[in-house]
Amino acid sequence: MNKFKETYNKKLTTPINVVKLIKSDTDVIVGQCASEPQACMAEFHTVKDNVKDVKVFSVLTLSPYEFYMNPEMKGHFELCSWFHAEGSRKAIKERTGTVTYVPNMLHSAGKDRFVVRKPHIFFGTCTPPDHNGFVSLSLGITYEKDIIENCEIVILEVNNQLPRTLGDTQLHVDDVDYFVENHKLPPVLPSPDADEIALKIGHHIADLVEDGSTIQLGIGAIPNAAALSLHNKKDLGVHTEMFVDSMMELYEMGVITNKSKSIHKGKSICTFAMGSEKMYKWLDNNPSVEFLRGSYVNDPCVVRKNSKMVSINTCMMIDFQGQVASEAIGINQYSGTGGQTDTAVGAIEGLDGKGKSIIACRSTAKGGAISTITPMLPQGTAVTLHRSHTDYIVTEFGYVRLKGLTLRERTTALISIAHPNFRKQLTKQAQEMGYIY
Ligand code: COA
Repeated sequence: MNKFKETYNKKLTTPINVVKLIKSDTDVIVGQCASEPQACMAEFHTVKDNVKDVKVFSVLTLSPYEFYMNPEMKGHFELCSWFHAEGSRKAIKERTGTVTYVPNMLHSAGKDRFVVRKPHIFFGTCTPPDHNGFVSLSLGITYEKDIIENCEIVILEVNNQLPRTLGDTQLHVDDVDYFVENHKLPPVLPSPDADEIALKIGHHIADLVEDGSTIQLGIGAIPNAAALSLHNKKDLGVHTEMFVDSMMELYEMGVITNKSKSIHKGKSICTFAMGSEKMYKWLDNNPSVEFLRGSYVNDPCVVRKNSKMVSINTCMMIDFQGQVASEAIGINQYSGTGGQTDTAVGAIEGLDGKGKSIIACRSTAKGGAISTITPMLPQGTAVTLHRSHTDYIVTEFGYVRLKGLTLRERTTALISIAHPNFRKQLTKQAQEMGYIY
């Protein structure tokens, strides 16, 4: 038998066995998004009576696992999420006492952990080992590889349906402590539907993207609609945290070629991927896409090296000063900062002076009842993008560039792309505040 196969077999165990390694008062870190170790996380709660104060760091947690949804887990497990999803939002709303939020930026998500203490266990996912004894960490190395190199125990769920992705995703079986097998279709993320407003916003964004630009797309329906509007562009490149279906489609259409990139020429660069089964098959052994660590890809100092870098992200609200709220309204944390600040700052500080940060926003929320362009953010709202970093703002009514503008000019510019139903009221409020006169 191949010696790597022998090593693998010796390390092979079951989820119910490996979760017994979890110890009180430690940090457990799990693979994020489509790399979530679902079989192990579904068993965490089984060791409840043996452990106290275990912190589980996770991102966009896919399933309502018992270890954080069940209020009886309080004091035993705490889900520390740096980008909320449906389950974590629900648990917070129900005051289960099992979920908290971790403020961070994607590029420093790993380093922040080591500042606090050494992580105890990393649970992740991988492909079966190849003939040289290497597994691929497959759909994401945002901080997974950094954690693997700095934790005490590495446990990977092996899934033969994961694509063998290229870049920095390879890991030798010798560097893994335990394997468990969980062969199943990786979690898919349906492309969000582009409604009429998203399509209008997408068209405005496309006006701002020049041929030869390198793009980053954030999460949600609007970035997806923006991608659809880019089909007439030439020689786009990709340097992004999240790789999605629309990037594969633009590549297949010949729009994304990566030929005009100033760094990583010829390659789309990402830190993780989430999308359709078709995309996962396409990513398998695909040399056009390289997965690299988030600590590198999203470092603003790296993002800025890209020529004509355009970051495209979405927000929930923006105030007259240009403060962007993308992850929370008031004290209600909806999602997370993710890579928004990293890529926006990198883009506007582009070394070629041609970078653009685009923040897209529907002009209204709550079925048209409120304006997302607002005099002040609701009390307690976390600012995702500092007002000095705000560049282009796009709504379905057009776009404005805030960079370099005074407070008075910003206010006027923002009101010009607010929903017409709110413009008069916003103007009156701005006058009362002394912002315009
Ligand atoms: N006030 C109150 N609620 C608002 C709101 C506002 N101004 N704006 C949006 N919402 C609500 C919506 O009603 C919706 O609620 P629901 O889930 O109950 O239906 C929810 O917030 C999400 O809004 P939607 O427009 O459907 O969001 P989306 O899926 O297009 O995502 C963001 C938009 C801003 C939430 C998302 O882009 C995000 O989380 N960004 C943060 C960080 C980021 O961009 N990182 C880069 C990628 S890693």
